[in-house]
Amino acid sequence: MNRGFTRKSHHTFLPKIFRKMSSQSSKDRPESLQFPFFNEEETISTVKESKTFFILRGLPGSGKSTLAQAIQDKYKDVCKVISVDHYKITPAIRSTIPEDYTKVDEDLVDYCKRDIAVIVVDDTHHEKERLDQLFDIADKYRYKVIFVEPKTPWKQDCVQLKEKNQWKLSVEDLKKLKPSLEKDFLPVYFGWFLSKRSSENLRKTGQAFLDELASIKVFKKEAKYFAPVIEDPKAKIDLTSYFVKRPPGVLHCTTKFTDFGKATGAEEYAQQEAVKSSYGRSFILTISALFITPKTAGARVELSDQQLQLWPGDVDKFQPTDNLAKGSRAHITLGCANGIEPVQTGLDLLEFFRLEKAGNKGEEAGEIGGGKLLSFGNGMWMLLLSKKIEVRAIFSGYYGKGKLVPTQSGDKRGSTFSSCIII
Ligand code: 2AM
Repeated sequence: MNRGFTRKSHHTFLPKIFRKMSSQSSKDRPESLQFPFFNEEETISTVKESKTFFILRGLPGSGKSTLAQAIQDKYKDVCKVISVDHYKITPAIRSTIPEDYTKVDEDLVDYCKRDIAVIVVDDTHHEKERLDQLFDIADKYRYKVIFVEPKTPWKQDCVQLKEKNQWKLSVEDLKKLKPSLEKDFLPVYFGWFLSKRSSENLRKTGQAFLDELASIKVFKKEAKYFAPVIEDPKAKIDLTSYFVKRPPGVLHCTTKFTDFGKATGAEEYAQQEAVKSSYGRSFILTISALFITPKTAGARVELSDQQLQLWPGDVDKFQPTDNLAKGSRAHITLGCANGIEPVQTGLDLLEFFRLEKAGNKGEEAGEIGGGKLLSFGNGMWMLLLSKKIEVRAIFSGYYGKGKLVPTQSGDKRGSTFSSCIII
């Protein structure tokens, strides 16, 4: 095939900077296309086994459509692009979201229902109200979100953008849009978001742990913490129903809770070089234990030195006097008891470490499916995995409302879980 010829004809439509460089290998892609999801094989394969919204953001003419096209080219048949330009929606400051988005969202939801791995949404995305609609859809269909802003040199330059934008917006129009796009949009929290495949595996493992724990004698003796009134002592405790809620969206390991920028240290965290360069990048997290308390069920994450660079300095304390190793709190919430917020899972994990420091190393309660079971008393149980679990995750942000959802929503329990052999 004469690739050179085909490419050339295509290139005449691209801005000069891309024309010059896109014939080079991926290692020396143009600056404006330097993103982990283009350059790094590990990130590419994690994205392919995840469900991700790439939300493009930026002024008209800044290079979003070129980015969208590049993502489409990279991910081919596992990718769909929704470009609002094709729905005749003009970028503008407005007080309400136009009806035209109904059709955009219909198409978006259609792709979500088909489990399309990569969905690119190409729009200015300067309005929080519109973004909220996207975050709701992402939560509902368990997509993770990665914001992508063009890195073109002219992305903020209204004079150049005037020439490049297809809507013939004036410099004045562009200047009106600019302020809402200049500031970084901080998430509710930064963290690692598990791939769909890793999420499913970890959920099954957690489920199998709960099922087995609930059925063993030593646990049943202590079961008062989970089932205060036991009518039939032989009856099995249903821990899955006990941990009734979980955070929405994708299973995740929070690094920094930023509360849309309102939390202490949020801006500083977001500005760190490690955070900026890791955004949208794949990591492999190691899970060394599963635990439950009367409030939460979770997985303990052991962070590598590289991962600890993304870990804030001030979160491994429950009380100011605590002196626990950095990263002690790293966890993935699997479920919460009625009325408990997921922030509790990290605090519960810290409590295990506090007890350990105080000399309570946990009473050995035997080997079960995945490893050694320890009882710390007061309904606190930990399973030290004999074989640590590795999960793939993308470092990114969560931007939605965070409302807890039922643990079992959408999961058909029974056949899938009961047939699963743990770890
Ligand atoms: P977690 O499950 O990792 O503990 C939304 O509320 C999410 O933010 C929760 O799932 C919880 O994550 C985390 N979270 C909430 N409040 C927090 C806080 N004050 N500090 C740290 N993480 C918090």
